Amino acid sequence: MSQKLGVVGFGNIAKAIITPLLDKKLVKPERVYCLVKTKKSYEDIKENYKYNVNVYYQNSEDASLVWQCPIKILSVKPQQLNSIKELSPLANNKNQTIVSILAGVSLNKLQTIFPNHHCVRAVTNIPIVIGKGLSGIAFSKHVEEQEKSFIKMIFASSGKIYEFDEDYLDIFLALTSSAPAIISLIVEALSDGGLSGGLQKNLSEELVLEMILGTILLLRDSTISTTDLKNMVTSPGGTTISALRVLEKRSFRSALIEAIMAANNRSKEFS
Ligand SMILES: NC(=O)c1ccc[n+]([C@@H]2O[C@H](COP(=O)([O-])OP(=O)(O)OC[C@H]3O[C@@H](n4cnc5c(N)ncnc54)[C@H](OP(=O)(O)O)[C@@H]3O)[C@@H](O)[C@H]2O)c1
Repeated sequence: MSQKLGVVGFGNIAKAIITPLLDKKLVKPERVYCLVKTKKSYEDIKENYKYNVNVYYQNSEDASLVWQCPIKILSVKPQQLNSIKELSPLANNKNQTIVSILAGVSLNKLQTIFPNHHCVRAVTNIPIVIGKGLSGIAFSKHVEEQEKSFIKMIFASSGKIYEFDEDYLDIFLALTSSAPAIISLIVEALSDGGLSGGLQKNLSEELVLEMILGTILLLRDSTISTTDLKNMVTSPGGTTISALRVLEKRSFRSALIEAIMAANNRSKEFS
């Protein structure tokens, strides 16, 4: 791809998106133009990032080069959005596109902040760092097919992509972007269960991770449904039904449903 790609905010998530593109040689490092806020981050990227991308810090002489890229990824924290201003947008070019990965910031809001751009909103999740991400993408109506393909290619290089109406991005975010924290909490809590039963912490966590992995692969790769699996391991008066009874008493399922809805509602509040 010979097109220049701009990245406004080259932090953890932006690196997780851009690095696989560079690893797979889908984009050349010299065609990537990144902007960070501080000189410290600039120096850190210059020194430690494994590719020699172009990098600038806010208010430095050449920062506007990032804004001259026809497609940019916006990857600052939502609370940093106010500090971002379009710089030297390409004169008379109505085909600039900005792809925001900010949680909960609507296409409407983006369009107000970036009037010279076609706006795209993407939601991605932390497993992109190992190429197992899920990304939901909502395009505003003016984005052309060629740009859409390029943007999909960017996110497809670090996982699976789903194209949605913007209305569905909040629940997509709740389910895919927030829920890794819920899973981490479950892993931690189950490991503590093993610890309570006398296992060493490390062994307990290893067993939990392997158990979850095996269960997920079984569900994903066979025709066994979640109900089938539950019934397979739950015998009358046995250990599993004793465990499930405790969870039912403590409204475990309802707590998870409400947790997802809380994240969904919070994302809508941000928009
Ligand atoms: N955590 C997740 O699971 C997840 C998943 C998907 C999407 N996201 C979204 O990803 C976005 C980025 O998150 P992150 O964890 O990558 O944040 P991060 O590591 O803090 O990166 C933010 C980047 O933005 C730069 N920046 C801040 N203000 C700037 C400005 N005025 N001009 C230019 N650059 C500026 C920062 O530069 P300095 O280092 O110099 O300050 C830094 O490079 C967030 O909006 C978040 O909602 C997060």
